[in-house]
Amino acid sequence: MNISIIGTGYVGLIAGACFAEGGHKVICLDVDKEKIALLQKGISPIYEPGLEELLKKCISSGTISFTSDSKEAVENSQIIFIAVGTPQNEKGEANMCYFKEAAEQIGKHMNEYKIIVDKSTVPVGTAEWVGGIIENELKRRGARIKFDVISNPEFLAEGSAIEDFHSERVVIGSESEEARKILHELYAAGENEKKKILLTDTKSAEIIKYASNSMLALRLSFINEVSQLCEKVGANIEDVSIGVGMDERIGPKFLKAGLGYGGSCFPKDIRAFISTMKKNGLKNGVIDRIEEVNQRQLELTFKKIEQLVRGVKGKKIAVLGLAFKANTDDARESPAVKISKILLKRGALLSFFDPKAMDNAKSIFPKEIFAKDAYDAISGCDALLIATDWEEFKRLDLKKIKSLMKEPNVIDGRNIFEPKKMRELGFNYLSIGR
Ligand code: UGA
Repeated sequence: MNISIIGTGYVGLIAGACFAEGGHKVICLDVDKEKIALLQKGISPIYEPGLEELLKKCISSGTISFTSDSKEAVENSQIIFIAVGTPQNEKGEANMCYFKEAAEQIGKHMNEYKIIVDKSTVPVGTAEWVGGIIENELKRRGARIKFDVISNPEFLAEGSAIEDFHSERVVIGSESEEARKILHELYAAGENEKKKILLTDTKSAEIIKYASNSMLALRLSFINEVSQLCEKVGANIEDVSIGVGMDERIGPKFLKAGLGYGGSCFPKDIRAFISTMKKNGLKNGVIDRIEEVNQRQLELTFKKIEQLVRGVKGKKIAVLGLAFKANTDDARESPAVKISKILLKRGALLSFFDPKAMDNAKSIFPKEIFAKDAYDAISGCDALLIATDWEEFKRLDLKKIKSLMKEPNVIDGRNIFEPKKMRELGFNYLSIGR
């Protein structure tokens, strides 16, 4: 099939590359010409495991191309995915200005029947709204062309996005039988025949996305709250999570206590979901509290650091990790960044190391030290904070760390080390819920 993807961020690029790998003809469109120039050379503007290799492969097989020309992209595709950003606005809602712009471009250049697919996370009612924008553009041109707008939210997590594309469920929300059939064919073809696919209406599909992210974030805030009790009474949250997750009705995933959730999705999606509920005259109960508990987790961790180093003012603290989780260069709404900001505000001196996210964090911390590796960051420090659960941090030489530190204080915000071993090695060690 001929496909266009508008927006070459984490969502659009992965979808584009994966459809192209499946043999479809894909055009990726972005207004950012610098990004397009990089992509045309096979260079990915973001770090995502396996993405650059996949892009290079698809470029050489001719199944993917990149452009800033919306006419070219719209005219040459039957299916157009909108995957532009929907960042949070000042009211906590999704900012739909890029989405509007994309819909207008589609209406302006539409030449024959098209299926427009809302891929980004957008509030309920967006498919209808997009339809209205396109209809207006067509009217303005005096054109009468049939089109369908459907909702097909993405469920990819950064760091495992390519794998998720092949294994995650597919939700297709459509009011049109024809569009639903074509999208179903697109996803259910070949090796994906056994993919879990839910066919529904557009509004339900739009809600599924927000409800999923809110449910996952709710689990995290729940387990983080339980971790506080574990700490108070001397229980172990790691074992509690395993025990709770052994119940098949609950399952083991998303029960890892830590510094709280971050990233470009959960924080903004939960705020937007709350705002949608309010707009519809509904009272929030549990959803409202998710973020509050998440924030508290950071404050409690800060208190732990303060307690360990007896006041952070003037203390040199190494922060390992800036990304919001491992395997990504994304530092948006990162708990690592947030806690670092609290530490700096209270007068701590920070040195950072992250395997992939340092470039993205340099603009946030222009005056701080970005070390060449973890040992370099730790050298001469009063305390070490583990803020992201990168695999390479788990393999650090702990004896070497101890010898490099001024004081052997470690706060493990991701529970990557064993408390018993750390104490045996002579560290003053605090972690989460243990
Ligand atoms: C999330 C969802 O997992 C995806 O299904 C969804 O498609 C995506 O948002 C989106 O809406 O685009 P992502 O934000 O990439 O994906 O990352 P997650 O793996 O969900 O992690 C979110 C945060 O929760 C991270 O800060 C992570 O460290 C934290 N987390 C996750 C925990 O603290 N404990 C856990 O057990 C799991």
